[in-house]
Amino acid sequence: MRAVAVRVEEGRIVEAPIQSDRTHVLPLELGRAMPVIVRGDGVWVEDAGGRRYLDAMSGGSMAATLGHGRRDIIEAARAQAERLAFVHNERLTNPLQERLADELIAVAPEGFSRVRFTVAGADAIEMAIQLARTYHVERGEHDRWQVISPAQAYHGPTMETLALTGRAGLHGPFGPYLPSHLHIPPSTWRFDPTGDAALAALDHALEQAGPENVSAFFCEAISAAALPAYTPPRRFWQGLAERRDRFGFLVCFDEVVTGVGRTGNWFAGAATECVPDIIATAKGLGAGYAAIGAVLVREHVYEAVSDGSRRFPLGHTWDGAPLAGAVGLAVLAAMRSEQLVERVRDRGPSLRDELERALADIPLVREVRGHGYLLGVEYVDPRDHTSFLPRELRVAGRIDDVAFERGLITLSTQPTRDGFAGDQSLFAPAFTATDAELREMVSRFADVVGHVAEEVEEELSTLSTSGGSR
Ligand SMILES: Cc1ncc(COP(=O)(O)O)c(C=O)c1O
Repeated sequence: MRAVAVRVEEGRIVEAPIQSDRTHVLPLELGRAMPVIVRGDGVWVEDAGGRRYLDAMSGGSMAATLGHGRRDIIEAARAQAERLAFVHNERLTNPLQERLADELIAVAPEGFSRVRFTVAGADAIEMAIQLARTYHVERGEHDRWQVISPAQAYHGPTMETLALTGRAGLHGPFGPYLPSHLHIPPSTWRFDPTGDAALAALDHALEQAGPENVSAFFCEAISAAALPAYTPPRRFWQGLAERRDRFGFLVCFDEVVTGVGRTGNWFAGAATECVPDIIATAKGLGAGYAAIGAVLVREHVYEAVSDGSRRFPLGHTWDGAPLAGAVGLAVLAAMRSEQLVERVRDRGPSLRDELERALADIPLVREVRGHGYLLGVEYVDPRDHTSFLPRELRVAGRIDDVAFERGLITLSTQPTRDGFAGDQSLFAPAFTATDAELREMVSRFADVVGHVAEEVEEELSTLSTSGGSR
């Protein structure tokens, strides 16, 4: 029997939210009722029933960095679509990708010299891995293929990007398809506050693989969903840079979330003690108005290709297309004219303080972290203020559910099953949010967390012992 499609009257969807058994769309989670969002304006979105939600997550996935409904970006896309929407970049180039590459290099960390555009984040990461491997092969080091990466990470849903995380829970049934990369544990307050354990694990992984077989170390400079707003201690970055010099592998950064301003720098990697060789970025480059990503390489990576086979031929149909390029240029123009990198850099620390103060009396909250407008809240069992919360309490999921009910868009994660991190929330507003809007987001969020915390504390008081584990 055909599923019942959503009810539409006079071209307007009138049923909201949509249940998975009432649509032909295959949703990510079948049990979840989904509000149907029909329009957006700044940091507000509106559903089909006319209900407004305050968007504390830049469209839910941190992509809508400039807010919704921006006429300048829409106009740039419209004008480019009229002029030339698409040509493929194998035999043809176009002025948009040429100019956008110039502009990205101008704001990239020193030494970056070439850009290849992609359609999204995961394919940018796949391309970064191919480029790292190509770099070694072009230089005659054919055995270098192995990648080492932190286990507690998310890099995308494709086979290679799934293999870059060490989270069996995320791999699901796809384990048999995934290449066997090596992983190190996160150096969080819980496992490794100094970064020394991660470095020891890195040494072990290098020994296990044989350093002459290692192509790249791959990581986020500042983590997004997997460990919100977390970055390893300086000691780790210094140790990573030392080992790169000693063993000759490349360092690749996933800046899909952090690139193009999110942490108060054009690229987060510029602020670490270990400038990467390759950067993959995406979300903020299109700001939610076009699907576009980019891979940036330093000159020595490009030289390996230019002095070698002079080919790096694989790519997707839409890579470097004019329409997406026009959006990228309009985004960078807005970032510059409104000084949004500076705004995020200046306002980020006080936003984190406001969030911390608002959550201060809630024992469920262990830590509020932040870099620019990438903030993270970590929850623990309030009975000992340390252990993971029992999984079955679904604290992260409940926070998002209650937030929705109260007209706030949040994104929380519960990767406890993998053992490295527990329930956490991201807080990542658009760079264009006003002070009043940021205050409103903080206040609504604190109400939501406070409400869930009260329920959870009551439920926990009925359990005799702590259900979570370190
Ligand atoms: C840190 C990080 N890397 C990579 C990706 C994958 O990007 P995309 O969904 O554009 O393929 C994501 C997506 O959320 C991400 O958060």
